[in-house]
Amino acid sequence: MTPSRLKTQDARTFERKWWHAATVYQIYPRSFCDSDGDGIGDIPGIISKLDYLQSLGISIIWLSPIFTSPMDDNGYDISDYRGIAPEFGSLADFDRLVSEARKRGIGILLDLVVNHTSDEHPWFEQARRSRDNPYRDYYIWRDPSSTGGVPNSLTSSFGGPAWTLDPATGQYYLHLFSRRQPDLNWENPKVRAEIYEMMNWWLDRGIAGFRMDVIDLIGKQVDAEITTDGPHLHSYLQEMNRETFGSRDVLTVGEAWSATPAAALLYSAHDRRELSMVFQFEHVTQDWDETYGKWKAKPFDLVGLKAVFGKWQLALANDGWNSLFWGNHDLPRAVSRYGDAARYHVESAKMLATVVHLMKGTPFVYQGEEIGMTNVSFSSVEQYKDIETLNMHRLHVEAGMSSEDFIRGANESSRDNARTPMQWSAATNAGFTTGSPWIELNPNHATVNVATQVADERSIWNHYCKLIGLRKQHEVIVYGHYQSWLDQHPDVFIYTRTLQQDRLVVVANFRPEEVTLTIPEELRQRGTCLISNYNRVGAIEENITLRPYEAFALLTHQTSR
Ligand code: GLC
Repeated sequence: MTPSRLKTQDARTFERKWWHAATVYQIYPRSFCDSDGDGIGDIPGIISKLDYLQSLGISIIWLSPIFTSPMDDNGYDISDYRGIAPEFGSLADFDRLVSEARKRGIGILLDLVVNHTSDEHPWFEQARRSRDNPYRDYYIWRDPSSTGGVPNSLTSSFGGPAWTLDPATGQYYLHLFSRRQPDLNWENPKVRAEIYEMMNWWLDRGIAGFRMDVIDLIGKQVDAEITTDGPHLHSYLQEMNRETFGSRDVLTVGEAWSATPAAALLYSAHDRRELSMVFQFEHVTQDWDETYGKWKAKPFDLVGLKAVFGKWQLALANDGWNSLFWGNHDLPRAVSRYGDAARYHVESAKMLATVVHLMKGTPFVYQGEEIGMTNVSFSSVEQYKDIETLNMHRLHVEAGMSSEDFIRGANESSRDNARTPMQWSAATNAGFTTGSPWIELNPNHATVNVATQVADERSIWNHYCKLIGLRKQHEVIVYGHYQSWLDQHPDVFIYTRTLQQDRLVVVANFRPEEVTLTIPEELRQRGTCLISNYNRVGAIEENITLRPYEAFALLTHQTSR
């Protein structure tokens, strides 16, 4: 029997949680598996792949939104929080998914999108009827400015002002995303009460928790133009915790683009009773341009990336918890961004997985990452479906950029890179659908697909299986203290994890060529090689030559060092 509290090298004793040794798998339902031939993935399709997910070893599925929605932002615009979008299935299908997943030891996380609703939500339809409608105050309305324009300079993440005039009532409403995603007014206690009731309704159906969309925005103070980390953010989360999941053993993860390590502790420190963890994006944005963001990336900088990872590992070493990820439905494919999908596809995809999966935190795998799915190469804007990409295309072209230049950038950064259909096999439409897919497939499904990789013991897929399994077997991966080495080395990432007598050394080469280096004396050791993307065996000598994108992890028990 393992004790429920564990003394680690880090100062605090960690209370064990079931999700500490778990790996989460994110499904973007629209693009995962289509069971009825309409070209759109659905819940029965997901159910048909549960055995596949079980064999990968994951414990939790995060489902991107499956609720009723006009799909302006592919479901992140909800018009009925208790309904399932007909293209995805029915509530009965959802209940079946929860129970079939549970039989396989897998819990379901729902995506809670409560910063905003769809403009087709009945609350908004009521609210826009008149200024004195009882639902008016569910949303954020302001009079035009003194010159008759938008109330202030807040902008939408999808481009343009965050305000749209509602001509019938003569006021503007706020939308930090598309104009079809009006922001809810969290200052209204009735809104909060409705949301908590809805959350409990889903918790009672047996879900394992929530991923919380743009949760750092709910405390906004519009007139002060404060959007992230508003003054009431944490009191709302504490109230939500108290009113809903606080008494249940579930996992909650908040999406917080603004999170610093200090803020992450406010969200996830044990005694604050808010969330289990947040997604922070500092490693993602580390090479974004200060002005143009992801649309203009800076050259890759491993020293900077290592510093960001190290900072987060240490900041949450004694309290709080990290999420670990390279990708999601909003980000380009990791192997295209940080690896070399053309020349070292298998090696670099495995290397990237090794580096994040052996850190301290809960790893998240985005669908298709486990087979090294890559960015897509579209040549015309019509091939893109994502509202953000299409809006940005319009705005950039209006500002004078050529459409070709924009598309070249979008092929690197657009959210659609992550949204092409899951590649199950080399068959027509990669086995995703028998119909016509809602977005084009990546043509490389002929070679990059699940069927081939499951059968090949040296595949990326089998490497993911191994990593996910190792976390369940070795406590040093779950709780070991993190320390980085050779911080200034431009090509190689080395860190150790230490727990009692166990020490794990993780070594990774981020370059498409051989790198020779001298290993610090403290790290020269013999041990067991837990995982390697070449054929490394159990020793780290003084001088070591790493092959292109080589990564491995060596475990030693102190008495054998
Ligand atoms: C989050 C989602 C993204 C969505 C946005 C608005 O960032 O991950 O896909 O567009 O919120 O809901």
